[in-house]
Amino acid sequence: MSLHDRLEEIPASGIRRLFELSSKYADVISLGIGEPDFDTPAHIKEYAKEALDRGITHYTPNNGLKELRDAISEKLKKENSIFADPDKEIIVTTGGNQAFLLIWASFLKEGDEVLIPSPHFVTYSATVRLAGGVPVEVPLKMENGFVLTVDDLQRHLTERTRAIVLNSPNNPTGAVLTEKDVRATVEFAEDHGLAVVSDEVYESLVYDGIRHVSPASVASEPGRFITVGSLSKTYAMTGWRIGYAAGPEDLIARMVKFQMYLSACPTSFAQYAAARALSDPRSQAAVSQMRSEYMRRRDYIYRRLKQIPGFSVVKPGGAFYIFPFVGDDLKISEKLLVEARVAAVPGSTFGAAGRGHLRLAYTVPVERLGEAMDRIEKALDR
Ligand SMILES: Cc1ncc(COP(=O)(O)O)c(C=O)c1O
Repeated sequence: MSLHDRLEEIPASGIRRLFELSSKYADVISLGIGEPDFDTPAHIKEYAKEALDRGITHYTPNNGLKELRDAISEKLKKENSIFADPDKEIIVTTGGNQAFLLIWASFLKEGDEVLIPSPHFVTYSATVRLAGGVPVEVPLKMENGFVLTVDDLQRHLTERTRAIVLNSPNNPTGAVLTEKDVRATVEFAEDHGLAVVSDEVYESLVYDGIRHVSPASVASEPGRFITVGSLSKTYAMTGWRIGYAAGPEDLIARMVKFQMYLSACPTSFAQYAAARALSDPRSQAAVSQMRSEYMRRRDYIYRRLKQIPGFSVVKPGGAFYIFPFVGDDLKISEKLLVEARVAAVPGSTFGAAGRGHLRLAYTVPVERLGEAMDRIEKALDR
């Protein structure tokens, strides 16, 4: 099947549709978009200006600026216990998002299946399909806190299964896998010879003292593990489009070849600033502040949602999303937009297992969240 035909089969993002609809109304409080409301820390912006002044305005290598690959390698070693050669096992990508198509195109053969715990970030299934693979949704339950178990995986395993996607902290549920959960999945993958693609773009936003654990760090054969990261959510840098993937040398080499024909490289001066950001202690201080604020908001919105009759909700352990069960998600999302002027994404956007839920992003200040919740309560009372 041609790429054109595969593209035809993939639906447009439901989140985009919500944006278009909400742009028709004034004074909408958007809990729809998955991006930090904070500004990029000032010192990181200064580094980008420095890059421009120093003339770092040309192509970089296809696998990314050497300084940035070195900084990513150092970060992975220190924070994730992952050991990746900056010259062979790391590629800088245009946001973490871009890494997925590069990964699947470099790895899957026609008809290969990928297990995707669901509800899930929509890019996974779309990119698996574009690359000729078959996304297999593994539905997770709210009663289990949306945590993946080995039994869930086992039920969907076939002879064509090649890989598992993990995403902790999770978009859209906010669920966080503990070290025990991660170890169980890693063991399952190793027993069945599966690759693990671990999306860790929310790794800095884990609450309640739980430690983020990278699957690659507990693997006995790290050669089948691919870690995707990004500066977007960690440093409020979504528009800079800097992400990365770390994995086995042969896979990274194919991804670099694809990158050559796709964008050649991510933006040079954004890469330079990203390299500096990763090694500047002020960045960690900024992350700490943002994390505390998100946690305050999480506690607030969780408390308010729990009080709404007919909604049920689990407390998310990470990211900046909460995913209550509300009933008819499409109808309620529309009602909230039209009658309360609050934008929230229907859960079915994130796969069949998301049906009945809403995804609310607490990426607005607490006062605004309070107003959004007041409006939601009022609209539902009517
Ligand atoms: C789970 C997850 N992975 C990856 C991304 C990609 O982010 P970016 O391309 O900005 O790095 C997102 C963005 O929303 C996400 O939610």
